[in-house]
Amino acid sequence: MRFEGKAAVVTGGTRGLGFAIAKAFLAEGASVMCSARTAGDYQLLKEEYPDRCLFHPADVADPAAVEQLMAAAAESLSGLDVVVANAGVSRDGRIEQLAPHDWDAMVATNLTGTFLCTRAAVPHLRERGGVIINMSSSMASRIAVGAAGYSATKAAIEMFTRTSAIELGQYGIRVNALSPGILDAGMGGRLADNDRVWAAYRKRFALGRAGRVEEAAQAAVFLASDDASYVNGAILDVNGGLMWA
Ligand SMILES: NC(=O)c1ccc[n+]([C@@H]2O[C@H](COP(=O)([O-])OP(=O)(O)OC[C@H]3O[C@@H](n4cnc5c(N)ncnc54)[C@H](OP(=O)(O)O)[C@@H]3O)[C@@H](O)[C@H]2O)c1
Repeated sequence: MRFEGKAAVVTGGTRGLGFAIAKAFLAEGASVMCSARTAGDYQLLKEEYPDRCLFHPADVADPAAVEQLMAAAAESLSGLDVVVANAGVSRDGRIEQLAPHDWDAMVATNLTGTFLCTRAAVPHLRERGGVIINMSSSMASRIAVGAAGYSATKAAIEMFTRTSAIELGQYGIRVNALSPGILDAGMGGRLADNDRVWAAYRKRFALGRAGRVEEAAQAAVFLASDDASYVNGAILDVNGGLMWA
């Protein structure tokens, strides 16, 4: 129970990887505010942890909504210790076919959403120090046809993470990012369920399988814990050993 008495916000905490991250923090004793535009599977967490799990709807691309989310979390949970900026979207498409509104959705959710979460969380986190975990992807540094927009946002998140760590260290706030490969739920699950696509990807993973979202969630718990008290500005790969031509 490494997070007893601690308060966490997990954006996109209603399904996929974010759901697993919220669940992992709850299992470690934290109180968790899950957020997304819709409640998704939140009720499952609420049933398991009725006293320590809350939901607050917010679009991470909306500055006012994100400020309200962090303020509501700090008020309901008596402060704020951990923010996991996990909400993200992926829209595939070769550059000449990628619709501008799909590009905008990725930039607004993944990149601007990450910035807005940090910006709104800092006034609350700096009261007693804290941790921010941003969500990158192995696609931040691997080239795949059709992933220009998604890859660009994730690469930008990694530099935003490093810069945030330098700026916020003075407040006792650590900032790191997780970089998962292909996981068995959410976006990765949709990919791994496609036999033809997965056959091509599978041989790239040294462990020969997709990761479980619970395995990536444990890496998030580690980064937020005191076990990682001197880890700052890092990008932690959770990809089972990824080889890429
Ligand atoms: N799963 C993987 O294999 C994998 C691998 C590498 C990186 N990642 C990263 O992990 C993160 C989570 O991905 P996932 O696979 O779990 O995806 P997912 O299953 O599609 O879940 C995405 C979550 O983000 C929320 N969300 C989307 N747009 C939002 C917005 N504008 N404002 C607030 N919440 C929003 C969704 O809820 P609503 O739609 O209701 O808002 C949902 O809760 C993403 O950043 C993704 O890039 C995932």
